[in-house]
Amino acid sequence: MKILEERILKDGKALDNNILKVDSFLNHQVDPKLMKDIGYEFANYFKNKNITKVVTIESSGIAPALMVADILNVPLVILKKQTSKTLNNNVYTTAVTSFTKGITYNLTVSKDYILSSDNVLIIDDFLANGEAASGALRLLEMGKATCTGIGIVIEKSFQPGIEKLKKLGIDVYSLARIKKLEKDTIVFE
Ligand code: G4P
Repeated sequence: MKILEERILKDGKALDNNILKVDSFLNHQVDPKLMKDIGYEFANYFKNKNITKVVTIESSGIAPALMVADILNVPLVILKKQTSKTLNNNVYTTAVTSFTKGITYNLTVSKDYILSSDNVLIIDDFLANGEAASGALRLLEMGKATCTGIGIVIEKSFQPGIEKLKKLGIDVYSLARIKKLEKDTIVFE
């Protein structure tokens, strides 16, 4: 997606070989107009897949995912990293380890919102090692829902996540694919 690549080059910053800082428009301060364009791009790609729900992982996936859900006219379900007191025990839970952040958390969702009749589109901001996406897939499996596709705003193609998901036969659509990062240098596929 050209406007996203241009924005990454203009406002993003490669901190080192692994981390791209995009917190002026994607994951701290958020540009709603760009999120809307991203929403239309994903919605257009997945429009004929009978999506019944969009699922994302809190917190940075929420902004683009909400736009997609709105355009597809389906609910957005947010997978929680911290169990809410209102959730009681009616939940599916799986442990996820983030290599980027060096932490493990329990990804949780109410059983009420993942149904065996659901065709789910997963949306997330970054695909790095694929651990968050794999955790989301495990929760969908627990609810016997179908994952129809995964939409990623920024894929770091040089990290293992994309290959992991492709091996599972999932249709992954990434809007910006980064081949290489070096301090102050960003190279797209
Ligand atoms: P994975 O999900 O693909 O396995 O990636 P990993 O566990 O290694 O890291 C996941 C977290 O790190 C995610 O944030 C993701 O957005 C963030 N992340 C990964 N690579 C980058 C990067 O190059 N730049 C930035 N800015 N973030 C990156 P999270 O823990 O889910 O937190 P949140 O921001 O969504 O709240």
